[in-house]
Amino acid sequence: NRVVLAYSGGLDTSVILKWLQQTYNCEVVTFTADLGQGEELEPARQKAQMAGVKPEHIFIDDLREEFVRDYVFPMMRSNALYEGLYLLGTSIARPLIAKRQIEIARMVGADAVSHGATGKGNDQVRFELGYYALAPDIKVIAPWREWDLTSRTRLIEFAEQHQIPVAKDKRGESPFSTDANLLHTSSEGKVLENPWDEVPDYVYSRTVNPEDAPDSPEYITIDFERGDGVALNGEATSPATLLTKLNELGRRHGIGRLDLVENRFVGMKSRGMYETPGGTIYHLAHRGIEQITLDRGAAHLKDELAPRYAELIYNGFWFSPEREMLQAAIDHSQTKVSGTVRLKLYKGGVYIVGRKSPNSLYSEKVVTFEDDQGAYDQRDAAGFIKLNALRLRLLGRRDA
Ligand code: ARG
Ligand code: SIN
Repeated sequence: NRVVLAYSGGLDTSVILKWLQQTYNCEVVTFTADLGQGEELEPARQKAQMAGVKPEHIFIDDLREEFVRDYVFPMMRSNALYEGLYLLGTSIARPLIAKRQIEIARMVGADAVSHGATGKGNDQVRFELGYYALAPDIKVIAPWREWDLTSRTRLIEFAEQHQIPVAKDKRGESPFSTDANLLHTSSEGKVLENPWDEVPDYVYSRTVNPEDAPDSPEYITIDFERGDGVALNGEATSPATLLTKLNELGRRHGIGRLDLVENRFVGMKSRGMYETPGGTIYHLAHRGIEQITLDRGAAHLKDELAPRYAELIYNGFWFSPEREMLQAAIDHSQTKVSGTVRLKLYKGGVYIVGRKSPNSLYSEKVVTFEDDQGAYDQRDAAGFIKLNALRLRLLGRRDA
């Protein structure tokens, strides 16, 4: 008879809070996570209190370090991209929210959890697969799949009937739906629904337009240790601080904008716009350090596993044995992925311009076009090619 709600303090989850109290006649416990979305979280406490939530039942947790250290970085070790482009900024945050929600449910003795994701999307799946993996017998309440507040107007009517403050700009049709954290901001719906129409400028919130970015490039270095970023421009930083600083650099240079039509797990295509400034820089930098520290066989196997791993995260299977198996392989591959990458940031672009590592496999002596003093015997290549050509020659003779 107690339910833990993932509560942002926004209009939708405020309506859900009231609706849960009324419909289920239950005690609602609110949980608000600071994942670096850049919003004040104290208003959420006041709103929850106003709605009658007991002070000891209002949880506001700063999860930024845990988010980047235990979710974003492990994912980045794989170079995961969903459908070749999406850096999974929303997908990777959901399991952490679900995990914390279940921890709180245990602390306060709640038997149910609730979230504000709609019945059409990926997020409901991600939240709920997380809940069930960690608490197999938990009761899940997904108001969007149950209630009859099926339009914006009805939602606002409900809010007004129940003294829930509605911001002025929310009275009309809300322009689009957003989700933000330290890794990205996503926008979907409304003005973005026609995939032929260019995303209007006002939808972007955390990057400057590349056309307006500085006319001179900026150079930075990122140090990696065992596959994780540990320093920016030679200065040691925590994971969350590193991503925060990269976000600032990415914002200034207009880096990490993506307009994408993607396949949702539930089967429909959706069009979204993502801004992943720091994550885009970090992703490329990680590739840069792997270029010199990973063996070809390991690197190419990683590249085969990455789409699979990305799909698991996108579909909400973070807490699954197959994700953990892939993670173990990916983590093992990173033991020598240490060193420094130098990058150039310029007008929406990020470029690797240098890399070095004490574990480098790159041998200038072997690769040089100048005299290699016996490091490599070019005559070996003749037999190498001849045997590789054998099947092609047999085929050629037969089919020519
Ligand atoms: N389509 C993206 C994903 O599935 C973003 C979802 C955005 N979520 C939201 N509540 N607006 O990861
Ligand atoms: C939602 O439906 O709540 C957001 C979009 C998604 O989960 O894919």
